[in-house]
Amino acid sequence: MTLRAVVRGVGHYLPARVVPNAEFVNWIDTSDEWIRTRSGIERRHFAAEGETTSVLATEAARAALNDAGMEASEIDAIVVATSTADFTFPSVATMVQSNLGMTRGFAFDLQAVCAGYVYALTTANALILAGQAKTVLVIGAETFSKLMDWTDRSTSVLFGDGAGALILEAQEQPGTNQDRGILASDLNSDGQFKDLLYVDGGVSTGTTGHLRMQGKEVFRHAIEKLAETAHTALEKAGLTSDDVDWIVPHQANIRIIEGTAKRMQVPMERVIVTVQDHGNTSAASIPLAISVGRARGQIKPGDLIVTEAIGGGLAWGSVVLRI
Ligand code: ACO
Repeated sequence: MTLRAVVRGVGHYLPARVVPNAEFVNWIDTSDEWIRTRSGIERRHFAAEGETTSVLATEAARAALNDAGMEASEIDAIVVATSTADFTFPSVATMVQSNLGMTRGFAFDLQAVCAGYVYALTTANALILAGQAKTVLVIGAETFSKLMDWTDRSTSVLFGDGAGALILEAQEQPGTNQDRGILASDLNSDGQFKDLLYVDGGVSTGTTGHLRMQGKEVFRHAIEKLAETAHTALEKAGLTSDDVDWIVPHQANIRIIEGTAKRMQVPMERVIVTVQDHGNTSAASIPLAISVGRARGQIKPGDLIVTEAIGGGLAWGSVVLRI
């Protein structure tokens, strides 16, 4: 028998305000048609005033706990993947811990921008396999609307706010690649590409800053690196693209999603797509897509999922798990 980090519960939260593409024409020179054809995005959710990342993260956590039929007191650790923490510190994770009324265990944030959830799943898996925790609440939560330069049409139309969460639990499994749980992962970064996608604020400037992106270059790297990392993770698990029930990609751009699926030789019928409704929610996009994919009846127990993501750093990676 082998210890595996198995998904026990799934949940998500989206702010109430939905912003369709058409709203942007009120303040920038753009069109619904440009945004749809270049990105696949039709609408996104924006958080209300005071609806911070920890608020979104807490709601997603409650939904996942409810789905698992668990109490917060049964959670040993909370990992939050985010680049939009409410404050420089304390972590969003400890704020969620407090909101849930948890007084034991440990909680921390992890920052790998859009690849954050892939990094968080890998970290939570390692905590479970090392015996540090039996149950880990892994949240991806973002309020990227707070980082937008609303005069920059090339970035402000692409991002949205939201949160998703998975609860991972240590379970004994037979020890084959048919096991439930996390089967393999692959993480990468290359800091020489740090200027392709960054926020021009932080403690060095005394401001929150705005997101800056060389879109075409990021696009090129995404197409090249995502299929490769997914392939590597599958290979580590002793599986191939043919075994994949669902690709759950980071939801940045439909053209990147389609390009990666094509390279992996997986038809779009086996790809979870939510980018049209959520835009790019950075580290929240993968758990959001898993939760929505399950709610739609697409993802079912026993399905093999491959997640893949790339973002600022550049940082990228993939996780293979059986749900
Ligand atoms: N509305 C209308 N026109 C626009 C808009 C807009 N919102 N934004 C840019 N344009 C214009 C540009 O100014 C440019 O005009 P010009 O030719 O007169 O200079 C023209 O459209 C073409 O711009 P490009 O940048 O060449 O457009 P492209 O086809 O590359 O699409 C896009 C841009 C959508 C950003 C694309 O490059 C992309 O998706 N890149 C990847 C970005 C991404 O996925 N980032 C997230 C990954 S990391 C993370 O998630 C944080």
